[in-house]
Amino acid sequence: MNYSFNIQLTKSPKPKPNPDTLKFGRAFTDHMFVMEYTEEKGWHDGCVVPYGPIELEPSSSVLHYAQQMFEGMKAYRTSDGRFLLFRPYKNAQRVNLTNERMCIPEMDEDLFVASVKALVEVEKDWIPAKPGTSLYIRPFIFANETFIGVTPATRFKYIVICSPVGPYYDTPGGGLLAASIYVEEEYVRAAQGGTGFAKVGGNYAGAMKAQTKAKEHGCEQVLWLDAAEHSYVEEIGTSNAFFVIGDEVITAPLLGTILPGVTRASVIELLQKWNFKVSERRLRIEEVVKASEDGTLKEIFSTGTAAVISPVAKLMVKNNFITIGDGGVGALSQRLYDTLYGIQTGAVKDDMGWTIEF
Ligand code: COI
Repeated sequence: MNYSFNIQLTKSPKPKPNPDTLKFGRAFTDHMFVMEYTEEKGWHDGCVVPYGPIELEPSSSVLHYAQQMFEGMKAYRTSDGRFLLFRPYKNAQRVNLTNERMCIPEMDEDLFVASVKALVEVEKDWIPAKPGTSLYIRPFIFANETFIGVTPATRFKYIVICSPVGPYYDTPGGGLLAASIYVEEEYVRAAQGGTGFAKVGGNYAGAMKAQTKAKEHGCEQVLWLDAAEHSYVEEIGTSNAFFVIGDEVITAPLLGTILPGVTRASVIELLQKWNFKVSERRLRIEEVVKASEDGTLKEIFSTGTAAVISPVAKLMVKNNFITIGDGGVGALSQRLYDTLYGIQTGAVKDDMGWTIEF
């Protein structure tokens, strides 16, 4: 289906941030996409307007019971002057997976993609060109019906904002940062039947305590274990986790507690194309430690829209650091990063049909 929207351009465009010092998610572009939902009209009145504060009554139900969701995707500038989105329909599918779980009304996939395209089209000048940068796109929906009571709302607001970004982890010298990861054995992120597979803010709010603990131990992120046994690896704070043990590349299966990442799916497809043995299977942290001891643990890396491919240098298990490989960027992590970011930015031919020009 084709959609068109009202576009109101800003009269006071902001200066663009310096691409050499871009932090993740700190600068926002000149415009945002806004759309309302009511039971009578469905999703309606989608428009691009100047970026700015929104009005929200204190009784808006999202502020009390957190009925909301979000997505994360990126737009890229190619060196020959084209503009690309990466697999936007995968995000559109996940919008409705999350919405169904959160009692948020479904959104037509074409409407979602059209809203994102309408905004990035207006914000093309904000897409940075420097290697390692991109325009991060953050669509989100929240309940703005005004009541106090634990019942699904009937009014929602959908907004898309954009932020020119560098790498998610600060890399002083540029390139990939090999991160230190804290294996969390006390707190849990998601249990079977919960919202672990959905992209909702509550999953991240509940994770901040463990994230703080990880930082205190000198780690960038947390590796979550399963809620039932605190034994099986699940995902890393902001991304999915992959373990290279012997000739097998292992990642946790999609059993309801981890996020079905678009980058995760893309990495699995690339690895299969390259004839790697990829297993979506449960993996105990003890198996990882044992593999480190017997020398078969070759690499760990995480995947995500923000994180892209983030190699893991060290894993802290029960207050002891295990060094992964030589503690630097593994060969497979580097190959995956070069291929994926290359496809996303048009530097590598997109044999997979993943990018969409706009
Ligand atoms: C993403 O990768 O898009 C996310 O939403 C993760 C977030 C922590 C930035």
